Amino acid sequence: MQQAGYATATSPDTFPAARLMAPGGDRRKAEHAYRELLDALPDNTAALKGLAHLLSLQGRNDAAAPYRRRLWQLHVHALGVPDVAEAGAAEFLLAAETGGTPPERAPAAYVEGLFDSYAATFDEHLLGQLHYAVPQLLARRFIALGLPSDDRLDILDIGCGSGLAGVQFERHARRLDGVDLSQNMLDLARGRGIYDGLYKAEVVEHLCQCDRRYDLVVAADVLAYFGDVQPLMDAVHKVVADDGHFLFTVEKSDEADFRLSASGRYRHAARYLVRCADVAGFACKVCDEAVLREQHGMPVPGYMVVLHKP
Ligand SMILES: C[S@@+](CC[C@H](N)C(=O)[O-])C[C@H]1O[C@@H](n2cnc3c(N)ncnc32)[C@H](O)[C@@H]1O
Repeated sequence: MQQAGYATATSPDTFPAARLMAPGGDRRKAEHAYRELLDALPDNTAALKGLAHLLSLQGRNDAAAPYRRRLWQLHVHALGVPDVAEAGAAEFLLAAETGGTPPERAPAAYVEGLFDSYAATFDEHLLGQLHYAVPQLLARRFIALGLPSDDRLDILDIGCGSGLAGVQFERHARRLDGVDLSQNMLDLARGRGIYDGLYKAEVVEHLCQCDRRYDLVVAADVLAYFGDVQPLMDAVHKVVADDGHFLFTVEKSDEADFRLSASGRYRHAARYLVRCADVAGFACKVCDEAVLREQHGMPVPGYMVVLHKP
C-alpha cells in the first residue's frame, strides 16, 4: 500500500483513486483501489469517505452505508463515547446524514461526548461566531410576561451547559439549579458562581426523581437533542409549581412534527409542540418565531415558547 501512496492519504481529495471518480475517470478502478486500501487499512478515513461517496454517486446507497457507519463510529470514538454506546451513537448520526429513521432523541452518551469535547470552545464559538441569542431572547420574553420577577423565583435551567442562560436568569432567582449531561460544561457553569445546585444527569431521569418544585424551568437550545418531546414535557410538568412556567426554544420544522437534520439536531413544528404541551397539562401562552443564531452566515429560524401550568 505504501508504494501506491495511499497510506498517508487523509482526505478523499488527496487519495489517488479520487481522480478516477472525476468526469472521464474509471469508477470501477477507483472502487477497486479503495477496496484494496481498506483491506490493508480498514479505518483509513479518506478511503472510507471516498468509497462511500463513489457508491452513493452510483445510487448504491445500501452498499455505501457500512462505510458511512464506520466513519461515524470513528467519529464518536474520538469524542470519547464509551465502546458500549458507540454503535447507537453512530446509527443516530448515520440517520441524520442519510435521512434514515431516527431514534426519538439523541443518545445520551453521544450528547455527553459531544459537549465534553466542545466545552472549551463553546462560549467563544456560540457567541463570537454563531451570534447565539437564545438566552437573551428568552430572558426578554420572560420579562415581557410581566410576572413577579424580583428575586423570588425558584428556577431550573435544564441542559444548562456552560451557564449562558443562567447568567440571564440569575437576577430573577431565589434559587437557581442546573442539570446537564456534560461534566465539562457543568464545570464551566460552576465556575460562574451563580448556581445553587448543579446536577450531572440525563434531564428526563433527573426530573422524574426530583422532589423540588420550580416556578420557572428554562431550556435554552436543548430540545434540539429531543425528537419526541412528550416525555420531556411530562417530566417538566411534574416539577413546575402551580402557576409556574416552562420557557424553551426549538429550531423550526415546517412540515413534520419533528425531524432530524443533517447536523444531528432535531427541528420541531409549532402545532406539534402545542399538542404535546396540552397532553402534558400545560397551556401554551406564547409560541413566537425568532432567529436563534446563525449557521454558515444564514439565520436559523426557530420558536420561542412559553408554557404555563394552570
Ligand atoms: C446547545 S447546548 C445549550 C446550553 C445552554 N442551555 C445555553 O443556552 O448555552 C445544549 C446542552 O444541553 C445538554 N443536553 C442535551 N441533551 C440533554 C439531556 N438529555 N440531558 C441533559 N443534558 C442534555 C448538552 O449537554 C448541552 O450542554
